[in-house]
Order: sequence, then C-alpha cells, then structure tokens
Amino acid sequence: MNESTPARPVVFSAAQPTGQLTIGNYFGALRNWVALQEGRECLFCVVDLHALTVRQDPKVFREWIADLAALYLACGIDPEQSAVFIQSHVPAHAELAWMLSTFTQVGELERMTQFKDKAQRHKTNVNAGLFTYPVLMAADILLYGTHQVPVGDDQKQHLELTRDIANRFNGIHGPVLQVPEPIIAKGAARVRDLQDPTKKMSKTAASELARVMILDDPKLILKKFKKAVTDSLGEIRYDNENQPGVANLLEIWCAATGNDMDAALSHFSHNMYGKLKVETAEAVIALLEPVQSRFKQWREDEPALAKVLAAGAEQARGRAEVTMGKVHDALGLMVESGRFE
Ligand code: TRP
Repeated sequence: MNESTPARPVVFSAAQPTGQLTIGNYFGALRNWVALQEGRECLFCVVDLHALTVRQDPKVFREWIADLAALYLACGIDPEQSAVFIQSHVPAHAELAWMLSTFTQVGELERMTQFKDKAQRHKTNVNAGLFTYPVLMAADILLYGTHQVPVGDDQKQHLELTRDIANRFNGIHGPVLQVPEPIIAKGAARVRDLQDPTKKMSKTAASELARVMILDDPKLILKKFKKAVTDSLGEIRYDNENQPGVANLLEIWCAATGNDMDAALSHFSHNMYGKLKVETAEAVIALLEPVQSRFKQWREDEPALAKVLAAGAEQARGRAEVTMGKVHDALGLMVESGRFE
C-alpha cells in the first residue's frame, strides 16, 4: 500500500466470459477476491466486451456471461458488499477507453505480450479490438478510481500500461485519474496443467484431462486427477524441477485443504502416487461441492441473478459518472447544457 491508499480502498477485478473457469482460476483469483471484500469497496465485473475480440457464438456467449456472473456469486462474492456487474451494462467503459486510446502509443500496444500471443493464435482475425484490448482494461480500472487490482502474472504488463496511461493523462491534465497498484495474492497457488505440469493450467488446453473445471462433476474430477502425469521416481517429494507433476498435486492439495507444504510432506511421505492423486481429488471435490450447488441455485433463479446484476450495474454507473465528469471537464469537452468551463 502506498500513502494515497485510503482506509477503504477501491478494488476492481474482472474475468472474461469465454467458457468455464478452471480450479487455477479459483485458487489464483476468485477465492482471493472473496477475501478482499472485507474492508474494501470491491467491484467485480464480467468483461463481455473484452471477449468480443475473439469471435463468439451469440447463443453460447449469452450463457457464458450469465454463468460467469453466477460463478462469482457461487464462489462467495457477496452482492450486498460488492458490486457484481456486466461490463456492457456500463457504457462508460467503452467511452473512457476511446479517450484513453488517445493517450496510448501504438508502440506500447505492440509490445504487449498477450497481444503478440493472441495475434499468433488467431492469425485470421487480428482485429483492432485485440490490439486496443489493454486500453479497454485500463478504462475498466480507471473508471472507478481503483486503488488496488488483484491480477495474475499474465496481466501485470497490462496493469503497468494502465498506470502509464493514468500518469500520462494526469501529467497533461492534472490529478484526475487514480493510479492503481497491483495486489499479488499471498499464497495463491499456481495450479499447473495435469498433463504437462511444466505449464500453467489453462482453460484452453488441448486435452480435457489437462484441466479441472470449477463446475466439473466429482467423478470427472477424480478421473482427471487419477490420470495426472507424474514421473517414475516413485517418491513423494516437493521438487518442482525434477518432479513437477507431484509438486503440482502437492500444491493443489495444500490449496484445497489449507495445509502447508511441511504438513503435506509428512502426510504423504511413504505413500504412493495413487494416494496423493485420490486425496487431492477428494480435497478439491469437497471444496467445490458448495460452490457447485450455489452455482446451480443462482443459475436456476434467473430473476434473482438479473436483480443482482442490475443493482451492480446501477452502482457502477453512478461511480463511473463521477470519473467521466472529471475526464470530460479535464479534456475540455462541452457539457450538454452548453456551459463552457
Ligand atoms: N484481461 C483480464 C484477463 O484476461 C480481464 C480483465 C479485463 C481485467 N479488465 C480487467 C482484470 C481489469 C483486472 C482488471 O484476465
């Protein structure tokens, strides 16, 4: 925290509604968001506009948006405490993004590793939105006077750019935009791919066995862990270098049970990999069970979900208006009543 962080800092975070989330997203992001609610003003957004940078099937996309919102709530985001909303319900995100794009250099966007990556993977659709994606992300954050942003490693560069854009704007127009700080979650497990444990677990991994989804059925979770790739050393040690598969399972077991690595090693030493796999699966299943049943409840009650999202959007719009007023003013845009400031 820096000096400008107030007693009740504003926190903003978001995920894209591009399909189901993995337990990596759960341990690395969602679970930590829940803990952040205490003593902070949190906004948790479903960034549907970001997801448009890749072609979506409208029918499926609509379901994914509702699914992700329901999942936030199922994981323990409390709509009484935090604003849960859909990005496109607050038009100011796109409006501010336009303005901020004029404070962003093409060269900066060209250096974004995620852009380079995605442009590689979607060679036939390297659209301008994919290129300006980080500017929209900057707008998401800066719109709410955000002090703190929980982000994973892959988004750090985007947050750095957000800070640069804010500082540049402020340098020209005075202190209008709050410059956000990253929050790196303490002890957030970095869950890796079950089939290739040298890679991060990704929702887009080629093999279904490689990733465990938050909403996977318990039987499937058990199957995936049983098939997890380990090694032929036959001894349970925490050695990321030589035994990445075993290390990954140990880390997941710790994350799911709340034990530390010492406890894990004394619990599993002298055991076979089979027991480690099954117990890790069981711990994950037990942890996800209440999340899955709450998800089902929210998803089956569309009016309740819609009500939460409407309230969240209204709250977000109210806050956004304050920033947009300042930004319009700073840029010298004319107000509708015709008054020149
Ligand atoms: N780019 C982020 C991701 O893919 C999602 C995102 C959009 C985000 N806007 C944000 C994350 C603002 C944090 C803050 O994971």
